[in-house]
Amino acid sequence: MKGEKRSLGCRLRAKAPLGGGLVRLDFEWPFAPPRAGQFFMVKPARTSVFLARPLSAAACGEESVAFLAAVRGKGTAELAAMPPGEEALLTGPLGKGWAAFLPQNAVKPVMLISGGLGIAPLAAFGAELRHTSVSFDLLAGFVRGADGENILSALGIGMDEAIIVSEDGGLQNAKRGLVTRFLDAQKYSAVFACGPPAMLRSAALLCREAGTPCFVSLETRMACGTGACLGCAVPARDGTYRHCCTDGPVFDAEDVFFDE
Ligand SMILES: Cc1cc2nc3c(=O)[nH]c(=O)nc-3n(C[C@H](O)[C@H](O)[C@H](O)COP(=O)(O)OP(=O)(O)OC[C@H]3O[C@@H](n4cnc5c(N)ncnc54)[C@H](O)[C@@H]3O)c2cc1C
Ligand code: FES
Repeated sequence: MKGEKRSLGCRLRAKAPLGGGLVRLDFEWPFAPPRAGQFFMVKPARTSVFLARPLSAAACGEESVAFLAAVRGKGTAELAAMPPGEEALLTGPLGKGWAAFLPQNAVKPVMLISGGLGIAPLAAFGAELRHTSVSFDLLAGFVRGADGENILSALGIGMDEAIIVSEDGGLQNAKRGLVTRFLDAQKYSAVFACGPPAMLRSAALLCREAGTPCFVSLETRMACGTGACLGCAVPARDGTYRHCCTDGPVFDAEDVFFDE
């Protein structure tokens, strides 16, 4: 059974710094695993911050869940500094996963396209799809090739399992440029995208031109993660708002209002 929401103090089983302020954190999670695309609110037991921080599930193991975190401010710095053996409060799984948007009886494959750490929830989706009849391509873009190599290796993705793009050209056999340059949306029955807002907007526009459905995972600041604070509102194209934590974080790109 896929997971209903729980809150529990969970031990950090393993920590792997990846360089560039990135870290993989593997926590015990003795419940049903999340669906790919879902997230957890995570907060160390010993912390100076009041609110937990949202992190996407990147992988699931035997009673464990792994996250890739980029240190941005105090919350993520404290998570990255946790020693293995210490506990954090995990609340999740939260939000809708990618699979809710899979096209039925599609003839063409689907595309998973990421920018930077956006690869984390899409790697989890790829792992889910491998147990289905849906075929997919993975297109992963990074600003720095060296970061890309570390991130892919931390997720157990071989360099030959994805089309890899770096902006600095710092990887052998990788394409160079912005990742969306290599998205041929017509080839796919649907495109699933996670990454920075400009990349999502660009992927959404390319898909609209090609008439291909596009689904994007959005990031907002979140206080509760459960629909209670209404702090994660994102503007929709119909002039209303959606809540990233409960309506998303994965949305049909046609419903999203992207800032110019
Ligand atoms: C559904 C969801 C899934 C996420 N998954 C991951 C993940 O797998 N790995 C990961 O590293 N991060 C992820 N994030 C982003 C992560 O939650 C934020 O980086 C974190 O909350 C920042 O907290 P902080 O205390 O370190 O930084 P703060 O001190 O709160 O902020 C530091 C800086 O980052 C900016 N910032 C903070 N949060 C966000 C945000 N959500 N979007 C844009 N800018 C922000 C702030 O404006 C500020 O400039 C996710 C966010 C969401 C909503
Ligand atoms: S984060 Fe509180 S309602 Fe979404």
